[in-house]
Amino acid sequence: MEHKLLLALQGKNTGCPPVWLMRQAGRYLPEYRALRQKHRLIDLFFTPALAAEVTLMPIRRFALDAAILFSDITVVARALGLTLDFNEGPVVHPRVMPGMQFQMSMEKLDPIIETVKLLKPQLRVPLIGFCGGPFTVASYLIGDLEETKKWLSHDAFPHLLDQIADVSCEYLRRQVAAGADAVQIFDSWANVLSDEQWRKFSLPYITRLAASVDVPAIFFMRGAARYIDEIPCAVSLDWETDLAAARLRTTKTLQGNLNPDLLFEPLPVVREQTKTLLASMRDDPAFILNLGHGVKPGTPVEAVQYLIHTARMFL
Ligand code: CP3
Repeated sequence: MEHKLLLALQGKNTGCPPVWLMRQAGRYLPEYRALRQKHRLIDLFFTPALAAEVTLMPIRRFALDAAILFSDITVVARALGLTLDFNEGPVVHPRVMPGMQFQMSMEKLDPIIETVKLLKPQLRVPLIGFCGGPFTVASYLIGDLEETKKWLSHDAFPHLLDQIADVSCEYLRRQVAAGADAVQIFDSWANVLSDEQWRKFSLPYITRLAASVDVPAIFFMRGAARYIDEIPCAVSLDWETDLAAARLRTTKTLQGNLNPDLLFEPLPVVREQTKTLLASMRDDPAFILNLGHGVKPGTPVEAVQYLIHTARMFL
């Protein structure tokens, strides 16, 4: 029987909606922090047994309807022949300059594909693979958003985005071949673009990514509501958007959209707001309950537990 997440992605779910949370495998979990004390982040991402273990941590604790691969959007830097490490955030060397040539090698991502293969037999829920939107990945390769903005008017920018899209399409295909049941594209920084820039520097590339796989894709960016009709797949919405109002505009699968800060509120508030959202989307066949962005570090585990329990009990 097909799982709720996949049914919702086809617009065919009945009963309560599937639930999973962006960044569900991260720093708010004590067992993650304990493992992290012993390993560098890059080693967690590139050691299949460890990455699989972190992916499974939230699945063991909560009644989630999907697992998301424990990896990062910046790993494709390695497939472009660059080095990647993590400090406060991702650090890529050398910084990408206009006209730079890349030594592409997809094998660098083999350990992550191995993680997907390790996970599959251990999971009873669908596995979501992912990659970054080329614009957002480019901003990490270039170094920061201010530098990236300088590239917008440069002839070399579409070429850079194309190269990132090439490796990302192949990376997604390999995740799916290894067993990923759906994919999510995180174009987290694309909201800094104007409408015209978004249509030039985000949309064409995410369209290529979504078309490169034969499983459903979900697109995430802050402010995605603006582009609901143009996004070529399911849309993950933030908490600035009213989901029931968005539903009047589209039959697409919609995901979201509780504020991650809600999880810092007292438990009855978590329950009431979750129920309000669930009621506003009651019986929607194409709705996936999620947050509007990732779970924040420091989020109380009980609040996550409560949210998922509330969703599971909702009639
Ligand atoms: O749900 C999951 O936990 C899956 C794994 C996952 C990670 N990163 C692990 C990670 C996913 C889906 C991502 C996506 C990601 N990575 C995005 C898009 C989503 C978003 O939140 O907007 C972005 C922009 C990145 C880049 C990145 N990676 C940053 C800016 C940082 C540092 C700050 C932060 O967000 O934590 C990372 C490191 C990173 N990636 C951690 C994790 C769990 C932190 C881990 C640690 O320090 O122990």
